[in-house]
Amino acid sequence: MAGMKRRAFLEAGAVGLGALALPSPPRARGNLWATAVFPPAGAADDARMAWWREARFGMFIHWGLYSILAGEWMGRNDYAEWIRNSAHIPLDVYGRLVARFNPVKFDADQWVGMAKDAGMRYVTITSKHHDGFCLFDNRLTDFCIRSTPYKRDIMTQMADACRRAGLKQCWYHSIMDWHHPDWLPRRDWEAATRPVDGARMSRYVRYLHGSVEQLLRNYGEIGVMWFDGQWEQTWTHEMGRALYQECRRLQPSVIVNNRCEGWSQAPVADPLGDFSTPEQEIPATGLKGVDWESCITMNDHWGFCAADHDFKSVPALIGLLVETSSKGGNLLLNIGPRADGTFPDESVERLAAIGRWMGVNGEAIHGTSASLFTQAPFRSTTKGNRIYLFITDWPEAGTLALPGLRTPVKRAYALADQSKAAIVVNAGGAGAPQALILPRNAPDPVCSVVALEFDGPPEVTGGGL
Ligand code: GLC
Repeated sequence: MAGMKRRAFLEAGAVGLGALALPSPPRARGNLWATAVFPPAGAADDARMAWWREARFGMFIHWGLYSILAGEWMGRNDYAEWIRNSAHIPLDVYGRLVARFNPVKFDADQWVGMAKDAGMRYVTITSKHHDGFCLFDNRLTDFCIRSTPYKRDIMTQMADACRRAGLKQCWYHSIMDWHHPDWLPRRDWEAATRPVDGARMSRYVRYLHGSVEQLLRNYGEIGVMWFDGQWEQTWTHEMGRALYQECRRLQPSVIVNNRCEGWSQAPVADPLGDFSTPEQEIPATGLKGVDWESCITMNDHWGFCAADHDFKSVPALIGLLVETSSKGGNLLLNIGPRADGTFPDESVERLAAIGRWMGVNGEAIHGTSASLFTQAPFRSTTKGNRIYLFITDWPEAGTLALPGLRTPVKRAYALADQSKAAIVVNAGGAGAPQALILPRNAPDPVCSVVALEFDGPPEVTGGGL
């Protein structure tokens, strides 16, 4: 990795989650992944990150054997993709799910189409979750799609569909593995039934590399390798570095997230990864000088959970997208498909509604950078000679001050207004901020976007309001 400016993260490896076995799923790990301190990107990294920064919005998909159980075991509701661990399901019993995985309704073009129509530019899907089951035809294990009645490689179908649709295909891949005999440690509750005699991490690491090699050789160009499950003490910084380097060797342009980092008690000097991964949260003021992507569920689980109907509303989801963009980050919005290969109805409806909004307002999200306003009653993004304002509470008074905006607005209009009728701008003067005089009714019922055009790159100074 000589000469390459590293963009990396301290927290991933230093979060104190190194307890040898996790009794329950770390559901609220939130900001454990958020803090990041590393040098600014070099030119080579800027080129490699360009499509990802432009994209701003992607789809996360958690799908696997656990989707069959739909969060329920022995009449109890349990945690979706963590169910083997949280319900203490023995390995052989869980293994019987392989014979039941038959997603006859799976249509990769349909999934990718829903992502694209929602304005998403990439899809990150579980190639393997912590349970160890591979959705691809992994020649190094039988615990994979090949052994199911369905047989057909999911990764091939997804990668082909993404290529056809012009979206980037990205792989989630769990480092932790509750199935492979060489992954250590065992879950505490199964220590008695799965002895560790003869288990060797070095052999597991070879398996992991061999799996990643297939994922990066057999499916064309991959946008991101999104690792996870790296927090047990057996996974070291050196192992993480070797994995990172292997990914870049196999595909020099691939982007790798910060969860390849190893466990460590103290911050490491050369933390790994290209972007930070806040989970179920958006950092309060973004993460300055750092690429980051918030991954967030639509309801309260990553994998399919039949009993979970606690879906966020469409305005709330659009609000998350607006918030991440206005803070300079990406949003990876999760879907937990059913075992038959369909998305939950609630997710389908929400994706369509987000898509309708993005169809009108997408230019205010894609390719933008963070808000220039430090004190304003609205969120905004910036792109070249434009600023986009996101107005959720359309002001009754009819005016909206633009605090600290120094550059004169040349033209203002609402993206949802088909006629693009000009919105009047009050020049300010005598120290007063420029202000918009808005029409009476909000052009968009959820969140109206007002585009401001300037003769050059706009300047905003603090202390406006
Ligand atoms: C956590 C969970 C995992 C989920 C991931 C998504 O690491 O263990 O189930 O896939 O978060 O970020």
